[in-house]
Amino acid sequence: MYFDTHAHYDDERFKGDQQELFGAMRQAGVDAIVNCASDLKSCQSTLKLAKEYEFVFAAVGVHPHEVGSLDEDAVQRLYQYACQTEKVVAIGEIGLDYHYDFSPRDVQRDWFVEQIELAKEVELPIIVHSREAAQDTFNVIEGSDAADVGGVIHSYSGDLPMARAYVDMGFYLGIGGMLTFPNVKKLLRVVEEIDLSHLLLETDAPYLAPVPRRGERNDSRNLRYVAEKIAEIKGISAEEVARVTSENACRLFQVAL
Ligand code: NI
Repeated sequence: MYFDTHAHYDDERFKGDQQELFGAMRQAGVDAIVNCASDLKSCQSTLKLAKEYEFVFAAVGVHPHEVGSLDEDAVQRLYQYACQTEKVVAIGEIGLDYHYDFSPRDVQRDWFVEQIELAKEVELPIIVHSREAAQDTFNVIEGSDAADVGGVIHSYSGDLPMARAYVDMGFYLGIGGMLTFPNVKKLLRVVEEIDLSHLLLETDAPYLAPVPRRGERNDSRNLRYVAEKIAEIKGISAEEVARVTSENACRLFQVAL
């Protein structure tokens, strides 16, 4: 019933109990997971996970933190990864991060555009990371016709007018543990106003565990707390939230469950 559209199960924090955990998540009603790569190495480990577990799908791409070290050959390698198996369902996570600025901003923007071009070439949606770069992210997406392939703005943290603009372009908003944190008025308003048909559930595991698990290692079983919070805001059942967001994810990633 749950579709986790953003997780990092190749993270070393899952090394010890990965297999056991996947079994437990399956039992808990997690039907599909998109594992997101963050650099070239994790593209490979993500592809490996997708090969090993029938309900794990892959997103390949390079996170803005890591683009500083890429050379020109990287595009070709990403292209090969993207075409390696039908289980690659997106290019991600890609985008802009001006909070840490681990890579120079112009380099981040160049690689963001480059990877959007790749997504258009292989006809896959994009998974977008944006932190303290809301307007630039929007401008790149709009300016590069990324709406041709669509995608999801992961862990959406922008305001309501921008949320509406993304939805109008056919994008989805990824909603995760942040929604359960205190002082997220802007996000509450977005979830209240944007129709459920444009929202996706995500964990960003092992990060961003929702209340009451905040601070712990996150995993896809905790999506229920996010679903419950959305249900409370919208005055519907958590089951409906889980069902509709799963259908949304299946539509975006062209997955049949
Ligand atoms: Ni992530």
